[in-house]
Amino acid sequence: MPVIAVVNRKGGSGKSTVAAHLAAWLAHQGCAVMLGDVDRQQSTRAWLRRRNAALPAIAPWTIDQKNVLRVPSGITHVVLDTPGGLHGFDLARMVMFADAILMPVCNSAFDREAAAACHAELMALPRVASGRCKLAAIGMRIDARTRAAQVLGDWATELKLPFLSVLRETQLYVQCLERGMTIFDLSGQKTATDTQQWQPILDWLAPILNPAPAATTQQVPTTSPDSPLNRVGSSRPDSLMPAQESLVPGGRIGGVQVNRQAQASALASKVLATAQHSSLQQRQQIPAFLRQTG
Ligand SMILES: Nc1ncnc2c1ncn2[C@@H]1O[C@H](COP(=O)(O)OP(=O)(O)OP(=O)(O)O)[C@@H](O)[C@H]1O
Ligand SMILES: [Mg+2]
Repeated sequence: MPVIAVVNRKGGSGKSTVAAHLAAWLAHQGCAVMLGDVDRQQSTRAWLRRRNAALPAIAPWTIDQKNVLRVPSGITHVVLDTPGGLHGFDLARMVMFADAILMPVCNSAFDREAAAACHAELMALPRVASGRCKLAAIGMRIDARTRAAQVLGDWATELKLPFLSVLRETQLYVQCLERGMTIFDLSGQKTATDTQQWQPILDWLAPILNPAPAATTQQVPTTSPDSPLNRVGSSRPDSLMPAQESLVPGGRIGGVQVNRQAQASALASKVLATAQHSSLQQRQQIPAFLRQTG
């Protein structure tokens, strides 16, 4: 199960915006996606509450009174929105889950400095340094009339940090998020520039989101890997194992069937509805070391 985290210790850098958009894009591809909101502000959880039920469903993160992290069985992809200021043990624990980290960075000296410090801390973690958890930056709220994209690109090159794309400054993002939507939920010319800007990010994520069937893994589905229900319906007791051990070989997102979105969306809706009733079962799936303490 691919897990993508959106991280930057700088507040307001666009983490929730990127996380919500990635989750919505995955939902549109027919994935049963869960949007985990690790942030106490619960921005993306509030955004999910505003989301129209007619749109492709995204299951929320579920945290019970004991702060136990749960991923219901059936979820195929997880996107994690994280809070500003995440560092130390909390950052390291989050990295244990993640296959990839996207770091949205605005262009100001303050933003670049905070992002550089976050990058340094991430690179000190073996999972990131070894490349098992991939890391890349995205330029946020970029005004095309300025040199911001160039400045951020140079900054990332100096850090040897892959720089995937820049997302322009536009009220479209603000208005969409206010309505529980993303630009991927809109159609037409209005969003053409924005979807184009997202494409390099989605291309970079593609091998992570669609792990190639691995000859070495022993967890090959016994039935057709292209069937979404085979993937999303399987109960996997290791669904919360560290990310590199929990990849599920499956079909390619690019080759989704027409009805796959409806099936996965229905499944995510079902997960959403049943999540609160399955706490005991889910809790049994959680290794003790993954339980949140604070
Ligand atoms: N491309 C964009 N154009 C215009 N506004 C944007 C864009 N991206 C994000 N914003 C706005 O910037 C603000 C901060 O974004 P967001 O909440 O995603 O940041 P964050 O990193 O999650 O913040 P926090 O650290 O507080 O959780 C929001 O009001 C959001 O609507
Ligand atoms: Mg946020």
